[in-house]
Parts: sequence; C-alpha cells; structure tokens
Amino acid sequence: MEMLVLKLEKDIDMPLYEQIYEKIRVDITDGKLPVGMKLPSKRKLGEFLDVSQTTIELAYGQLIAEGFISSIPRKGFYVQAIEELAYVRPIKNTKMATIEEQDSIDFDFSPGHIDTDSFPFTQWRKYAKEVIDESSKNLLLLGDPHGDIELRQEIARYLYHSRGVDCTPEQIIVGSGTEQLMPLVIRILGTGATYAIEDPGYPLTHHVFFHNNREAIPIHVDDEGIDVQSLQQSDATIAYVTPSHQFPTGTVLSAARRTALLNWASSQEEHFIIEDDYDSEFRYAGRPIPSLQGMDKGDSVIYLSTFSKSLMPSLRIAYMVLPNVLLERYKDAFIHYASTVPRLDQHILARFMADGHFSRHLNKMRKIYKRKLQTLTETLIPYAPHVSFSGDEAGMHIIVTVHTGESEQMLTTAAEKVGIRLYGLNSYRTTPILGEPSFLIGFGGLSVHSITDAINNLMRAWGIRKT
Ligand SMILES: Cc1ncc(COP(=O)(O)O)c(C=O)c1O
Repeated sequence: MEMLVLKLEKDIDMPLYEQIYEKIRVDITDGKLPVGMKLPSKRKLGEFLDVSQTTIELAYGQLIAEGFISSIPRKGFYVQAIEELAYVRPIKNTKMATIEEQDSIDFDFSPGHIDTDSFPFTQWRKYAKEVIDESSKNLLLLGDPHGDIELRQEIARYLYHSRGVDCTPEQIIVGSGTEQLMPLVIRILGTGATYAIEDPGYPLTHHVFFHNNREAIPIHVDDEGIDVQSLQQSDATIAYVTPSHQFPTGTVLSAARRTALLNWASSQEEHFIIEDDYDSEFRYAGRPIPSLQGMDKGDSVIYLSTFSKSLMPSLRIAYMVLPNVLLERYKDAFIHYASTVPRLDQHILARFMADGHFSRHLNKMRKIYKRKLQTLTETLIPYAPHVSFSGDEAGMHIIVTVHTGESEQMLTTAAEKVGIRLYGLNSYRTTPILGEPSFLIGFGGLSVHSITDAINNLMRAWGIRKT
C-alpha cells in the first residue's frame, strides 16, 4: 500500500482535516488515486503526516460521507468510483467573509430590508400545510407556464381594487422576481428597442439591460420624476420607470408628466412604458397614486410588480401584466418555458390572498412602517439644518442629505467605523455627482428602538449635534 504524500500548511486558515480531505478528494477526482486503491490506515497516515488519528478520522469520515471512499470493516478504506462533475467545490471562504462582514455591522440601513418580526407565520403555515396535503397531488406536476390561474385571478382582483390596474388574469405572467421577468420583456420587445432608464434609478434592472446587450439611455430625475421632455428628445423607444414612488429618490411622477409620458408612448407603435410598481402598497400621506397602466388608453404599458416588499423578498414571486399586443408575442416566444415559481408557493399565496389575509397583512404593515418612518423623521428633525430629508411619503426608505461639507465617502467610512452600513445615492446614478452627499436610509428592517439609536450614533459619528 502506498503512503499518501500530502503537503499540509499549518499557517493557513483551514483546519488540517479539511486540507487532508481536500487533497485526497482532488487526487481522486483527477484520477491520481485510482478506483479500488486501498488508502493507508488512519494510524499510519496520522504518523506519516505527523497529525493526530482524529484528524485523519475526520478527513476520511467526510470523504466517506460524500462517497469518495468506502470503509470495509476490518479491511480498510478504498477509493470509490465517482461520476464526473458529481462534486461542486464548497465556497467556504466567501461564506466566512460574509459572516465576518455582517458581524461588525450593528445597524444596516438597507432599503431592501423588510420587517421580519411581523410576518404572518401562523396563516402561512396553515396554507402551506393545506397545500402540501396529499390530496393536492396534482401540484407535483407542472402547471400553467404563465402561473397557475388561481394565483393570477387573485393578483388581477387585487390590482384592480388597489392599483386601478385594468387587466384579465390571462394578461398576467408570474415569475420569480422582477429581474427574472425583465429579460423576458426585453426578448419580446426585440433587438431594435432602445431603453430609457431613470437616473438615479434601480441598478438591478439597469444591469439586466446591460447584460442583455441593450442600449439604455439615462434620463435625469428631478422632483417631478423622470424628465419626460428629455425622454421625448432621446432615441429611446421603451421607458423603464417607477412613477408611483421613484426609486431611489421617492418622488412621484407629476400629473403633467404622467400625461406627457402616456402620450409619448401612444405616439408610436414601438413605444412602450415599463411601469415598475414595486412598493406601491406602502403610501402614508396624500392620495393614492393611480397606476399608469390604469390611465393608459393605448395598450402601451407593461405593468410590473412584486411581493418582495409586501410579503418577503425570499418568496421570489413577482408578476407582469402585458398589453394584449405583447401577450401574443410572449406566447409565441415562451410556449415551451415552464413557470419559474414553484406551484406549491403559488398556491399558498393564492389561498392567503383569497381569504383576505394579504389585505390584512398590508394594513398591519402600513401601520408598522408608518410608525418606524415617524420615529426616523422625528429623530432626524433636531439635527437640522445639518441634515435634511425627503421621500418620506411612501415606501421603506427616505433620502437624507448632509450639509456639513464632508464627502459621501468620508461619511460612509465614519459610519462604518461605528457599525452602521449606509447606501450613498451616488451608487444609484450612472455617473456620480459632486455636491452635498445624500444617502438612502432604509427603515423597514430596523426596530423602532434601533432606528433612534442608529440615527443618534450616526450623528455622533458625523460630529453633528442637535440644534
Ligand atoms: C425598483 C425596484 N423594483 C423591483 C424590486 C423588487 O425586485 P424583485 O421582485 O426581483 O425582488 C425592487 C426591490 O428593491 C426595487 O427597488
């Protein structure tokens, strides 16, 4: 029996057993240790490598568990036949880095975090149990590629009553997230389409245009929303907008610009608007903002929304409402594509909505987020005029601007030093601008108490006192 010559490193951040396991695994997958070969006993290999027998035991145990070697009682350990590519290298270092990174952060103002304490687990569990019941066997098979009709009917009903969206369930396509639906939209709009994007705007969808090799023209956003005049003067044929609550500035597209935008869309057959209505459920002041889709007479709005904010981002359920002219193109292009959302999840959600829990959950969350927002703004007010805020009528984040002369980078670093993660507005722009720095301050994921603590700590770190 050959001894295994394995070079171990004592100074690296990887336990010895893992190094031994890893080296033997690689030698097996590379064919250097042939199938059927007998490995040295734990004692002999331990002595040879000058490590304890327990270390070898751990390494062999891992190799046995993953099927690389087998243990035959009273005989020894033998290399097993493995299927090609049966093994995927674990990405341990990345995971450790993330955990370490998170450890040093006490308060994260991410605009994407939701309140996880108020999720209706009891109802969700009840519907999950019902759906996983044996009588639902047919849910084990593939369903409607556009999403099961039960869910699409609920979405259509909800959209009509809460957003004034006028559509039939047949126009709705359910998919696993906005960024998963966007490439489908891009494909049906064809290679000739040129996109206008809001600047600042939602980086994820902007990346989707880029990755799909589509030209995207940034259009400036001011306090009335996207500058429709600039859009009209551009070569864009498709406008991707967040009119009810512009991401990230929080402005609402003014009535005049809404009309102008819809007129631009109906002026040419190949013009379309992609209306991303991602968090319209959470509006705390003023009148509800009607959807552009509901105002549109020209069948030129593609309406997109998601359950990421209203329920949970990990659910990965979003949907789009296609104008009839594009629905036909969609059916032709994606006839063989199954839905990207598991049917069990679709049915849990459909039942949750049908029994009125979704509306109840939204009412509850609106109150919770409103209270958090109030706490946030009340904590900020005494620090004026050194800081000011905007975008506080809707959603789960506001924009805070700092008037102390420091740069975005300096303020971000100062915050990180005291365990606060910030999101500078410049990262949402196509080109960063100099001037007074602004930050997205997400409050959804923080408790009322931690909002007050986080803001007071932040102001202290920035050297700003109450006035
Ligand atoms: C503008 C915008 N659109 C869409 C989404 C949600 O995307 P998804 O459905 O992929 O979670 C977000 C989430 O933060 C958003 O900010």
